[in-house]
Amino acid sequence: MSGTASNGIRRGLLGVVGSLRTGSVNRLVARAAVGVVDDLALHDIRDVPFYDGDLEAAGTPAPVAALHDAVGAAAGVVFFSPEYNGSFPAVTKNVFDWLTRPPRTFEGVAVTMIVASPGPRAGRSVRSHFTSIMERQPVRAYDTLGLGSYGERLDRSGALGDESVDELRRFLTGFADFARAVAG
Ligand code: FNR
Repeated sequence: MSGTASNGIRRGLLGVVGSLRTGSVNRLVARAAVGVVDDLALHDIRDVPFYDGDLEAAGTPAPVAALHDAVGAAAGVVFFSPEYNGSFPAVTKNVFDWLTRPPRTFEGVAVTMIVASPGPRAGRSVRSHFTSIMERQPVRAYDTLGLGSYGERLDRSGALGDESVDELRRFLTGFADFARAVAG
């Protein structure tokens, strides 16, 4: 089975948020990102089960198939994820694990990770784990973006401030160009 869209063309950017909580700052950043770059759609992964070889052997679960379809049609995937204990939350890692399995829609896609963190290190540790994991995958990894000290980035209404929105726009415009070039 092919890992790409049925017409073989990858277009647009897909966003996946690795935090399930309602008040997620990483989801807030992902929503802001939709407003600053063309053709970015968020894909809900809440129903993706924990990777389980028995589930996989019984037939790819529908939410996993939907994830593969979305990734297979995209030129680039943006993982918006918190850092937990210096690494990935299970939610984010679980998505990676499913995506490395057949139908291997990860093949040839551009990837990046954006981390919003309350601390000044801006998720440096999880972003470095992301880079080292993606080096072993058949993806085209772009730079990552850390939005540290997020308490200082949110305005009184809880929205992302203008400077952070600009930073997001610059980064995602670069990533979109990269993803388009990779997709040909
Ligand atoms: C955290 N947090 C955190 N932050 C960080 O910068 N480095 C870290 O290693 C950790 N570790 C960690 C572990 C666990 C179990 C939790 C629950 C939290 C704080 C975390 O970045 C913060 O709660 C974010 O707001 C979570 O992201 P969302 O849900 O707001 O998107």
